[in-house]
Amino acid sequence: MGHLSNRHFIIGLSGGIAAYKGAELVRLLKKQGAKVRVIMTRGAQEFITPLTLQALSGEPVHTELLDTSAEAGMGHIELARWADAVLIAPATADVIARLASGRADDLLTTVALATPAPLLVAPAMNQQMWRNPATSLNIEQLKTLGVSVLGPAEGEQACGDVGAGRLLEPEALLAELQRHFSSGALSGRRVVITAGPTREAIDPVRYLSNHSSGKMGFAIARAARAAGADTVLISGPVHLETPEGVERIDVGSALDMLAATEAALTTTTDLFIASAAVADYRPTTIADQKMKKSGDTLQLELVRNPDIVATVAASSNRPSYVVGFAAETQHLGHYAEGKRRDKGLDMICANDVARSDIGFNSDQNALSLYETSGVTELACASKLVIAEQLIAIIASRLQPSCDHDTNNEGVSP
Ligand code: PMT
Repeated sequence: MGHLSNRHFIIGLSGGIAAYKGAELVRLLKKQGAKVRVIMTRGAQEFITPLTLQALSGEPVHTELLDTSAEAGMGHIELARWADAVLIAPATADVIARLASGRADDLLTTVALATPAPLLVAPAMNQQMWRNPATSLNIEQLKTLGVSVLGPAEGEQACGDVGAGRLLEPEALLAELQRHFSSGALSGRRVVITAGPTREAIDPVRYLSNHSSGKMGFAIARAARAAGADTVLISGPVHLETPEGVERIDVGSALDMLAATEAALTTTTDLFIASAAVADYRPTTIADQKMKKSGDTLQLELVRNPDIVATVAASSNRPSYVVGFAAETQHLGHYAEGKRRDKGLDMICANDVARSDIGFNSDQNALSLYETSGVTELACASKLVIAEQLIAIIASRLQPSCDHDTNNEGVSP
């Protein structure tokens, strides 16, 4: 908690019903000992008064760009330089569009453009506006510019619609700011994780799959994010909520998972963890129509799927550390160590899936971690505890990176 104390935050409020959550965030930040200055657009002032924000922040609220008395206090350039981070919450579709095109037509967008500090935006808008391709393009542009996009959340909206576009809750926004200023074991690192099963289509209604629930991989993503990593989770079909702050990419087949993995592996990816239970084979052909019964037996011809983790380990973009999993019912160490060598991995995490209390679909696991240097045992515990232990061990194996000690990793525009 302590790492927000005395940090300088500019909280920008734009016009939306969620402006009240921005006010609550200001209160939470003050409780953490942070110094907060608030900028409100004209629209925001229609929903909540500057007086409320002044009372909560204990500072005058900034509303105008070309106001001589305001500029005589703390001008827009001074404000921009004062901030350790600028968070716009709520950020309307209009503010997002103006930021994406580099406009500086009010105080908020001018400060956003002028600040050397990390810029974060938390979108809040109607679900249809959020899904509009224009908004998607603007969001992509902001990400390309290094802006961190927080949320939005899904659910019921003030207008009665249901869908994505709700502002994250103030507690979740606070947690994001804490993560940005934390010195977690994976701060400044980018981690890509696969989780869950794959589905290999036989025809439009049938597929081959397995019992993986995704729980292990999702717990690893949660632990990596909590340790400060920029975390991408590539998941087969599962019924699990995305851990807060994790970028999730849903896939179906092994080929889809391979394509998503290759797309997610940037040159700055430090760590790849393959916890998915990927089907080794897929039907050679997928019937166009639902297959009809005929005869007492049916033969399916299968073809080998590419090996995702081995492909990553052999690629020119190889992350510095590559981790696989092995689910075995017998000769755990022998098979796991063989896979580690054959696939070119730094570590393989073996689970004994002959046990009914751990492994597939259970809430607990126990792992034996095989590396060239030896074996580390993680005793039976919840998958989250196992994931936290695993992340701590992997973090200790990573070489220090030049930006590892910086607080504002990867978010400066
Ligand atoms: O999802 P849960 O219900 O929580 O269960 C977790 C788990 C048991 C699925 C997980 O802990 C686990 O062991 N995952 C690997 C399961 C497995 O069957 O592994 P494998 O022996 O087939 O493959 C070895 C490694 O190669 C794995 O890292 C796998 O992701 C990877 N692989 C396999 C085949 C393939 N075509 N591409 C791959 O990347």
